[in-house]
Amino acid sequence: MANQEEKKQSQPRNQKTKNLMLVIFGASGDLTARKLMPAIFNLYKEDHLPENLVVLGASRSDYSDEQFRNHVVNNSEFLKDDLDKQDKKFIKDFADKIFYEDIGDSYDTDYKGLHKRIMDLNKEHGTENNFIFYLSTPPSLYETISKHLHDLKLTSENDGFKRIVVEKPFGYSLKTAQELNAGLQKYFKEKQIYRIDHYLGKETVQNLLVTRFSNAIFEPLWNRNYIHHIEITNAETVGVEKRGGYYDKSGALRDMFQSHLLQIVSIIAMEPPINNTAEEIRNEKVKALKSLRIMNDEKTLYNNTMRGQYMTSTINGKKVQGYRQEEGVNPESRTETYAAIKFFVDNWRWKDTPFYVRTAKRMPTKVTEVVIHFKTPPHAVFGGSDLNKDNKLVIRIQPDEGILIKFGVKVPGQGFKVERANMDFYYASLTDNKIMDAYERLLLDVMQGDATLYARADEVEAAWAFVDPILNYWENNDRVNTYGYSAGTWGPRNSDDLIEDSYGWRNPGPHLTDESGFCII
Ligand code: BG6
Repeated sequence: MANQEEKKQSQPRNQKTKNLMLVIFGASGDLTARKLMPAIFNLYKEDHLPENLVVLGASRSDYSDEQFRNHVVNNSEFLKDDLDKQDKKFIKDFADKIFYEDIGDSYDTDYKGLHKRIMDLNKEHGTENNFIFYLSTPPSLYETISKHLHDLKLTSENDGFKRIVVEKPFGYSLKTAQELNAGLQKYFKEKQIYRIDHYLGKETVQNLLVTRFSNAIFEPLWNRNYIHHIEITNAETVGVEKRGGYYDKSGALRDMFQSHLLQIVSIIAMEPPINNTAEEIRNEKVKALKSLRIMNDEKTLYNNTMRGQYMTSTINGKKVQGYRQEEGVNPESRTETYAAIKFFVDNWRWKDTPFYVRTAKRMPTKVTEVVIHFKTPPHAVFGGSDLNKDNKLVIRIQPDEGILIKFGVKVPGQGFKVERANMDFYYASLTDNKIMDAYERLLLDVMQGDATLYARADEVEAAWAFVDPILNYWENNDRVNTYGYSAGTWGPRNSDDLIEDSYGWRNPGPHLTDESGFCII
């Protein structure tokens, strides 16, 4: 493709990415074809990949290199639209970087064959002993795989970098997360370990840092003196789809809250880092997570947590099945598909400012947003205060990504009637820049050794320390209700009870400026 060539010439290759080999364990699974390969292909198109790159898939399926290339590139439904627009040679050059090694029936096996393949490819393709091991396998295999790599001296950085990337879920509880950390750290140093949380790869999540720490207009107000409460909503329209088996053992609190949402909370709550290095940013995030007030007694847990489960309903004239009818789900399951938690951050900045965070499946719209509710002005010069008319800063993580400020303006005409007006910014307006998909960004970062957007061991453990007592309370206490809600609604009918002062949740619409109270009929 002439255009592609022209582009290549006009954009110098990103020098920061050294020649390397990416070894993907569990490569025949869904994630490789669905997320990793499209991300690597985009990096290839944008010329971010090093001159010499090998992607070696390793798993238990019996593929040849050619079959694997067909599976993850040439015949991939996740790349099809993109490939249709590309030149054949351009695609072939990409596919030629991809190889496959069948590791046998089990991951706890002799890795001699794999070792030989890695070493041969390394020599033939000049990947300079720089290896990234991406574990797209169940967490129970992390330690086993690490041990084998270590035994074959593939973890030593004497002759090139060695990094390991692990996927979510990172543990099932504080104890299991600690065990996973200890298992990995036996064979890799912490600085070699990259724990993926794909929300950190989202441009808008990173922009939370920039909004806060590159403007002088927000930070002075970003504390208990001016903020009344903080609300975070993560809603999905989909149900558990084909993942009922996994989800029923996990639930919304583990699946979304412990990882993605507490990452967002940590960025909202953290103190300014002294610079933008991975360690400084993560130090501040850990401090914030360690400041979350852990709820231990039953009364506090009862008053501040709520779980629910979606039930059969009709959405847009189509019947939607309830959670308990989903494939792989126990018909008597009490696993939550809705979780809402109120909590406090015990530090100087946030003392007594409530945070409300909810996440759920089968809601009216897909949306993730952070809403900073400012306090109403101390003295109502223009008449009575109206709680629903507080100043709000709405930071929209997805979709219709952007930022909205709601502020008071005078209604034209006699007297001083005040209305709320919107000031809105949309990411889409920054058309010059292509927004990288989360996996694209995270893969490029690990290739370049930047761990800023990866979770550190102490971060993950601090998040689990907060979540553990809630899970224990929910799981071991028969008196804790799992409230039903009709699929396609904003959760249990009593969900607003969690938020005092009659604020209620802001139920956002599909667009940034939609007023709250969105529903589908
Ligand atoms: C995953 C969860 O980590 O995030 C899924 O396991 C969830 O249950 C997904 O659907 C949501 O990601 P996104 O990027 O679509 O908001």
